[in-house]
Amino acid sequence: MGNDRLTQIVSLCRRRGFVFGGSEIYGGLSSIWDYGPLGAKIKKRIKDIWWDTYVDKREDILGLDSAIIMNREVFVASGHLEGFADYLVDCPQCKKRIRIDKIEKVSENNYRCAECGSLINILESKPKRFNLMLKTNISASEDSPQEAYLRPETAQGIFTNFLNVLNTTHKKLPFGIAQIGKAFRNEVTTGSFIFRMKEFEQMEIEYFVKPKDADRYFDYWVNERYNFYIERIGLKKENLRLREHSKEELAHYAKACIDIEYRFPFSSRKEDSDGEWSELEGIANRGDFDLTQHSRVSKKDLTYFDDEDNTRYIPFVIEPSAGVDRTFFAVICDAYDEEEVKGRKRVVLKLKPTLAPYTLAIFPLLKNNYTIVELAKKIFYDIKNKMPTIYDDTAAIGKLYRRQDEIGTPFCITVDVESLSDGKVTIRERDSMSQERISIYEIEKFVKEKVKD
Ligand code: GAP
Repeated sequence: MGNDRLTQIVSLCRRRGFVFGGSEIYGGLSSIWDYGPLGAKIKKRIKDIWWDTYVDKREDILGLDSAIIMNREVFVASGHLEGFADYLVDCPQCKKRIRIDKIEKVSENNYRCAECGSLINILESKPKRFNLMLKTNISASEDSPQEAYLRPETAQGIFTNFLNVLNTTHKKLPFGIAQIGKAFRNEVTTGSFIFRMKEFEQMEIEYFVKPKDADRYFDYWVNERYNFYIERIGLKKENLRLREHSKEELAHYAKACIDIEYRFPFSSRKEDSDGEWSELEGIANRGDFDLTQHSRVSKKDLTYFDDEDNTRYIPFVIEPSAGVDRTFFAVICDAYDEEEVKGRKRVVLKLKPTLAPYTLAIFPLLKNNYTIVELAKKIFYDIKNKMPTIYDDTAAIGKLYRRQDEIGTPFCITVDVESLSDGKVTIRERDSMSQERISIYEIEKFVKEKVKD
């Protein structure tokens, strides 16, 4: 495990086109990544499952798609302009720029560099404040720049639209607003592949409740989101845990926060071979902080009229905030497996079938036999609109199976000479590698029965 496993996973992601470095042909950009054909499919499936679970299947949550570029005042109100900053220090020895809150404090003014181990005295190497937001200019002329910001969390678009949604849908508490979208942070601590990116995607719900119900809904959402990762995403229970934030650690807006952590296969300590528990999602009780702040700065009334109690107040909000990229990363790490089969290494991605880029792969046993190829292609064209399917005849059958194992395709179908006379094909299951003959007419039913949510 540990860093070797991470190296293998990163290598698979690049080799098979899951993830590429951003702007790679120009030397890349630090902590900016692109998703290739297969990665984009898995990422979309993760988002679709989340949206389906919380927006399409529930009456109490509404979807939103708000803009990435936001007015500066939004972040005056949210506190991001003031407080969303890291303190950085340059190690005098190895010159690495590091976050002071991430390294060991040795004594009152001394910290230990996590890179080279030397002592950093903060009276000598004065830490500098660095805001993490990305600023842009949206004016038509360079002479009168109009400052705007790329959102550092999708949440702010939800708060600024709270009144619009309330007035257009007439929802009663409790109700939620959900959105999936890009967020941007000028992260300084980088590394560990796609774990910490400057451009990433979030799936956030702001769930508005009566203040007296906040604690109850906080518990509900922690439980709901934890189970989502196991049941809908298929992560192993032993690689997930909950961790409550201490008072000192809480973000400026939060009354309480619990992280859902995943045991990623990387480690800041090389001897730690079991990987490192790191944040996958944060569930926070943000109280009435955001709506109160936006109400104050925008001078708009963001209160809710409670006709049950005949009172007017600012609702509390519970926020389950998940990262799409971190979920993707956890999915790949959880599914990655290496086995020895007949003396050779088999790399297999044991993805939950609903997340796999392809559910089915179709191969002709002999690519030079015209009638076999024709039948295999016919099966492919018949089934490809019913489930994600790929056709491949560019290698020998053993190699074709290995290719599909590596990208997590749960079923492979081989068409052979006998198929021409008995109308049957061989279907092979990814994890057990077991094979059986089934009728061509049964393929869809057979696979659909096994690929359940
Ligand atoms: N609205 C609350 C919020 O943004 P957060 O803990 O800063 O809270 C929520 O972020 C989630 O977004 C994290 O748990 C993580 O999954 C994802 N995330 C945050 N920063 C990220 C980054 N730099 N790269 C990738 N994902 C990130």
